[in-house]
Amino acid sequence: MATIGHKPTNFDQLCSRLSLVGCRKMSRKPSDALLLIATTFIGVVLGFLIGVSVPLLSVSKVQNSQTLDQCLFDFLHLVHQKLGIVNYLSTSLLPVVNQHSRDVSRQNHALNDISKIWVPSNPRGAERLPPGIVASESDLYLRRLWGVPSEDLTTKPRYLATFTVGYDQRQNIDAAVKKFSDNFTILLFHYDGKTSEWDQFEWSKRAIHVSARKQTKWWFAKRFLHPDIVAAYDYIFIWDEDLGVEHFNAEKYVELVKKHGLEISQPGLEPNNGLTWQMTKRRGDTEVHKETEEKPGWCKDPRSPPCAGFVEIMAPVFSRDAWRCVWHLIQNDLVHGWGLDFALQRCVQPAHEKIGVVDAQWIVHKRVPSLGNQGEPSSSGDAPWQGVRLRCKREWKMFQNRLETAEKALLENMSRST
Ligand SMILES: *[C@@H]1O[C@H](CO)[C@@H](O)[C@H](O)[C@H]1NC(C)=O
Ligand SMILES: *[C@@H]1O[C@H](CO)[C@@H](O)[C@H](O)[C@H]1NC(C)=O
Repeated sequence: MATIGHKPTNFDQLCSRLSLVGCRKMSRKPSDALLLIATTFIGVVLGFLIGVSVPLLSVSKVQNSQTLDQCLFDFLHLVHQKLGIVNYLSTSLLPVVNQHSRDVSRQNHALNDISKIWVPSNPRGAERLPPGIVASESDLYLRRLWGVPSEDLTTKPRYLATFTVGYDQRQNIDAAVKKFSDNFTILLFHYDGKTSEWDQFEWSKRAIHVSARKQTKWWFAKRFLHPDIVAAYDYIFIWDEDLGVEHFNAEKYVELVKKHGLEISQPGLEPNNGLTWQMTKRRGDTEVHKETEEKPGWCKDPRSPPCAGFVEIMAPVFSRDAWRCVWHLIQNDLVHGWGLDFALQRCVQPAHEKIGVVDAQWIVHKRVPSLGNQGEPSSSGDAPWQGVRLRCKREWKMFQNRLETAEKALLENMSRST
């Protein structure tokens, strides 16, 4: 049947033009033919809409975690919007779609309404955040400004060495820093305001410099070494600037500390150099010692400071766990840290086994009156260092009093509650 060039005069001809199989049988009445046209039209529009919405859907799939359900919903919703005439679709599927839409918006509402989120196991203050985004600990690793973050670090130093320094002691610190390998992050606390001057040393450009005038080691440690900030480090050295390190190697020191299970330690001190305590005196015949004899009457108990569970505050080394406790012991206003050495034993158990002195890697205390020179001359004509000294002793008493008061209050509480 040739139809080209002829105006179709009946529905048979129209059907053949549309090339619809089985059309002839159905197309007996005009209404049948109209339905046919409408169906074809809808088919074309549907096809177009599917084409348009597929890229849209894949985007929403990536963005939305309710992916498949959400996609289906989006698609049907789109179809419904564009094709109001497709009644069968509306009537049969929309109840389902609408129910789903209510569920999804309820979920979205819960996520957007932050008053509904409360995760008690999150760190204090961060309970409203989804736990997966909470970064509660940090490190002091230096990063690049470019490239991929995961490729920033060629090594991750496992130990942290801090020195509280004045520029006058630069030669001594230079010698000390060279005893610490690349496994150490070097952090200098400057109490004299001089920082960029240190760039004369090659290592200084890789070190971290923190500057605050006339502040002490413990003032810096309290403010810049919060346990969560230095959580990446297995061991933390918090050292003075006047230590001779000719007989010291940091990597070997850490090996010994691990071997002997020391949570808090210090290197042995060169004897015959005006030592205050027997405990920290270097012994020539051992790798490590944890106990000593003191002058008669100095130790109430041979297992308590200063006979055991004791190191001084000039060159202590803390494990991560020990530091998490000791940081809390440091008082914000007692900046010299005197008395802290006697309290360290409270942070590790049993203290007489986990606090000790490393004899095989030892140092010389040079006793340079460094920070003491940063004091103020007093009206009574005392030298600046005398005022500092007086404050040190006063702080020691204050610290002891606070600790005793706190202990007493705790004991009272405990006896009241039992
Ligand atoms: C750094 O630490 C690793 C693992 O303990 C050790 O194998 C390596 O020798 C250390 N690097 C240096 C320079 O000592
Ligand atoms: C004593 O117990 C009460 C109630 O548990 C507590 O609020 C208070 O902080 C405690 N005080 C001390 C010093 O432990």
